[in-house]
Amino acid sequence: MASTFIFLLFFTVPLSFHLNSALNQEGLYLLRVKDSLSDPAGSLSHWSDRDATPCNWTGITCDHLNSVVSVNLDSASLSGPFPMFLCRLPSLSRLSLSNNSINSSLPVSIWSCRNLTYLDLSENLFVGTLPYSLADIRSLRYINFEANNFSGNIPSSFGNFRQLETLRITENLLNGTIPAALGQITSLKSLQLAYNPFSPGRLPPELGNLTNLEVLWLSDCNLEGPIPESFVGLSRLKNFDLSENNLTGPIPSLIFKLKSLDQIELYNNMFTGKLPAGWSNLTKLRRFDASMNGLSGTIPEELCELPLESLNLYENQLDGQIPESIANSPNLYELRLFENQLIGSLPSELGKNSALQTLDVSYNKLSEHICRVLDIGLLCTSTFPINRPSMRRVVKMLQVLADNMPDDAQKDGKIFPSLYNDCDQESMV
Ligand SMILES: *[C@@H]1O[C@H](CO)[C@@H](O)[C@H](O)[C@H]1NC(C)=O
Ligand SMILES: *[C@@H]1O[C@H](CO)[C@@H](O)[C@H](O)[C@H]1NC(C)=O
Ligand SMILES: *[C@@H]1O[C@H](CO)[C@@H](O)[C@H](O)[C@H]1NC(C)=O
Ligand SMILES: *[C@@H]1O[C@H](CO)[C@@H](O)[C@H](O)[C@H]1NC(C)=O
Ligand SMILES: *[C@@H]1O[C@H](CO)[C@@H](O)[C@H](O)[C@H]1NC(C)=O
Ligand SMILES: *[C@@H]1O[C@H](CO)[C@@H](O)[C@H](O)[C@H]1NC(C)=O
Ligand SMILES: *[C@@H]1O[C@H](CO)[C@@H](O)[C@H](O)[C@H]1NC(C)=O
Ligand SMILES: *[C@@H]1O[C@H](CO)[C@@H](O)[C@H](O)[C@H]1NC(C)=O
Ligand SMILES: *[C@@H]1O[C@H](CO)[C@@H](O)[C@H](O)[C@H]1NC(C)=O
Repeated sequence: MASTFIFLLFFTVPLSFHLNSALNQEGLYLLRVKDSLSDPAGSLSHWSDRDATPCNWTGITCDHLNSVVSVNLDSASLSGPFPMFLCRLPSLSRLSLSNNSINSSLPVSIWSCRNLTYLDLSENLFVGTLPYSLADIRSLRYINFEANNFSGNIPSSFGNFRQLETLRITENLLNGTIPAALGQITSLKSLQLAYNPFSPGRLPPELGNLTNLEVLWLSDCNLEGPIPESFVGLSRLKNFDLSENNLTGPIPSLIFKLKSLDQIELYNNMFTGKLPAGWSNLTKLRRFDASMNGLSGTIPEELCELPLESLNLYENQLDGQIPESIANSPNLYELRLFENQLIGSLPSELGKNSALQTLDVSYNKLSEHICRVLDIGLLCTSTFPINRPSMRRVVKMLQVLADNMPDDAQKDGKIFPSLYNDCDQESMV
């Protein structure tokens, strides 16, 4: 026994000493990364110099030559400055440090991470300006800097990216303006700059050159002026979100040339004029929101004929009737038209063809007994049992209503039959 122990001691000590010096160069760089970070959760605790390569370490992926191609340390509770030693890894292609507390600026020397295709630094505490030198990494396809404290301008050097498909810098403190140079990145599929305190500025017409763009998310970017006519070039656009800005002018009919549009969000701007005509071209449109603007005129029948999931036009000056056809959509779950000047009654089939979840038509000029029926219907079908009136109360409400109804409507209950029937079935049995 004792001799076995001595034997093991004798051979293992030099052996581990030997392995020590055998950790390859990339492993040694990664240990420098580990040393530079504060790691209170011990996420990197088994990154050890006793291994020959770092290829089995948490977050590390190597290629067949044991060269590190990917570092993924998401949600590892790491803090400290950006670990520049990562850029010594010659084959590093994917780097993700999302949801940590990295609290430095991003160094200009980031260009030395020259083989990166994917860079996710979202949800950290980065400060300072975005380094112009990032654009020297020509291989980059994906950048996500969401939810940091980057400030200043987006460098116009970013226009030099040639393969970039995603640029996401939402929720930062960028306070310059959106540079026209971004219109040169024709490989872009997704441009997301929402929720930044940009200086007031216009939408650069150059963005209309982004013919591969599928997602444009520029909510709350302090934008003013009109939607440029050049946006007719965004022919692949699916999600068009310019909500919460100060955009003016009409909603342009160029949108009808963007036939892939699935979602249009223009709420909380200063758009005026009538809703344009030509909606039948947008066969893929499912969600349209132009609430909180200064729109007037009627709700186009053509818009309501699309199989919409959600239509929000509240807080405008729209008049006329609510088109019957909105009730035909099998997808409609949300219809909010409150605070307009709408007249007449609700579409009689509303709620019959789809599982409507949200309906708000309050503060309009709809006929009064419609609203009473609606109130009762909503109470009856409320998902919260506490809101449901007793059967006696419903009968009383209906009685009052019936007394005030024109005779012909009273006979067949056609004012609002679907909710009327729901009341019958669900709450009055
Ligand atoms: C990784 O670990 C496995 C078993 O845990 C081992 O077979 C393999 O050789 C290790 N690879 C490297 C590169 O260390
Ligand atoms: C972020 O990291 C923390 C701690 O590691 C974790 O608890 C949390 O779930 C993570 N959040 C997300 C959105 O991944
Ligand atoms: C960054 O985080 C580290 C570790 O939590 C802390 O010691 C350091 O003071 C922070 N640096 C800055 C500039 O906030
Ligand atoms: C890294 O990029 C350089 C040029 O940018 C290239 O010459 C080299 O082959 C790349 N290395 C790997 C491992 O991809
Ligand atoms: C980031 O910005 C927010 C909002 O201005 C601020 O409250 C926070 O202290 C900043 N954090 C850092 C690390 O700079
Ligand atoms: C942008 O923010 C930085 C950092 O807070 C500040 O120093 C700079 O003056 C701001 N620039 C503008 C144009 O507001
Ligand atoms: C991009 O768009 C602008 C304005 O819309 C135009 O003047 C410019 O020539 C376009 N650039 C390229 C490279 O197509
Ligand atoms: C719109 O402009 C006004 C002043 O012109 C400003 O107070 C407001 O913050 C702006 N709103 C948005 C969403 O940019
Ligand atoms: C609808 O599409 C057709 C065919 O692409 C096009 O000619 C027409 O101008 C479009 N209508 C509108 C209103 O943009």
